[in-house]
Amino acid sequence: MSSLSINIEDVFEFATQDQVFGLEPIIDQNLKALHAGTGKGNNYIGWLSLPSSIGEDSLQSIGKVADDLRAKSEVVVVVGIGGSYLGAKAVIDALNHSFANQLPTGNPMVVFAGHNICEEYHSELLELLDNKSYSIIVISKSGTTTEPAIAFRLLKQHLELKVGKEEASSRIVAITDSSKGALRQLATQEGYRTFTIPHDVGGRYSVLTPVGLLPIAVAGFDIKKLVAGAADAEMATGVDTPFDKNPACLYAAARNALYSSGYKVEIMVNYTPKLHFLTEWWKQLYGESEGKENKGIFPAGVDFTTDLHSLGQYIQEGERMIFETVISVQNSRRKLDIPYNSDNLDELNYIAGKRLSDVNRMAQLGTTLAHLDGKVPIINLEIPEISEYWLGYLIYFFEKACAISGYTLGVNPFDQPGVEAYKKNMFALLGKKGYEEQGKLLRKILGEEN
Ligand code: PA5
Repeated sequence: MSSLSINIEDVFEFATQDQVFGLEPIIDQNLKALHAGTGKGNNYIGWLSLPSSIGEDSLQSIGKVADDLRAKSEVVVVVGIGGSYLGAKAVIDALNHSFANQLPTGNPMVVFAGHNICEEYHSELLELLDNKSYSIIVISKSGTTTEPAIAFRLLKQHLELKVGKEEASSRIVAITDSSKGALRQLATQEGYRTFTIPHDVGGRYSVLTPVGLLPIAVAGFDIKKLVAGAADAEMATGVDTPFDKNPACLYAAARNALYSSGYKVEIMVNYTPKLHFLTEWWKQLYGESEGKENKGIFPAGVDFTTDLHSLGQYIQEGERMIFETVISVQNSRRKLDIPYNSDNLDELNYIAGKRLSDVNRMAQLGTTLAHLDGKVPIINLEIPEISEYWLGYLIYFFEKACAISGYTLGVNPFDQPGVEAYKKNMFALLGKKGYEEQGKLLRKILGEEN
């Protein structure tokens, strides 16, 4: 079994070994409570055993629908927001050719909608789809989220006008709750193919269900390998793995010890833009899981070396409340050497013949040393390569560590009560039935009504 490498040595100057390892009893207890189903939010822990329990049959039926969509579509539009969007986006972006949407790759172009309410974005998407054969995967656990519902209404109308109602229905796949919500009702009424999101798996923990697996398979990637990586992470982070060998426990302990020492912001760092959306997924996972009851580490992200030229200054010398978690990738899948140039006007001949990945590694080393010097604690994670296996591994590892971390902080890592606040105001301002009183109050606050 392969294992993720985690190194927390660069934490001990800022949160002592005693602080970190002093958390062992509570973290062990929380890991056991998670597995025993006795912790907070225990009706949402179905994701814990997903990798080891997902059957060959389920993977095959996802693969079959993916093949069908691939065969009939130049573009597949994935509609969803939050946990119903970011996991698939993270994996597809990490594995895809960086210019996949501009190059013929043999795979359908996978695009996303319903993760914003931007008029221009959705108008331009419909413009793109005017001249493409396309299918839609619509994902919503609740089946009632406004952003994807609006996007789906637009897309459904567009597709039906383009290919007719019957053909459109055969090109739409809905992923939602087994019985609840408007999307389930619509799917039954229109005869869409459907996949179910297990009732005990919350949105941001759902990548390893059809929510993530179907779009990833449609994009041409091997979901069996992804699940195999997650299954190994499930083993490696289980109750039988001792604290000091369990990467999820070590990560949870290091970040909680740092939080107690005043480090309130965690920046996820990568040195390849391919992991940009993995960070976005991680931000949602940790932000929604931990940020409640006036507590929680603020999850942020940077892509280095790009952001060394924007946020680098702050990280080096700004307020000392930041720690970094760096994901390193040992091997690049492609090779590119820096060319020799006889003029040497850019004075780069001293690195001529070196691989870009070697230069990137030195940039990383130099940054690590500078940031430690600037009193930024660093947790180091390393994977051998960006692949389905390692992305599956990381996804499960982060989910597990998030749940343990949330318990250690004393919160329920599986709910998101704070997300309702903006929705209620939006509904009230839009005049939704049942929100009339709040609407009046808000308009008064906004000075639109006496
Ligand atoms: O993690 C969560 O539960 C949320 O981020 C949801 O995934 C997000 O709000 C989308 O919800 P739904 O799938 O019900 O449309």
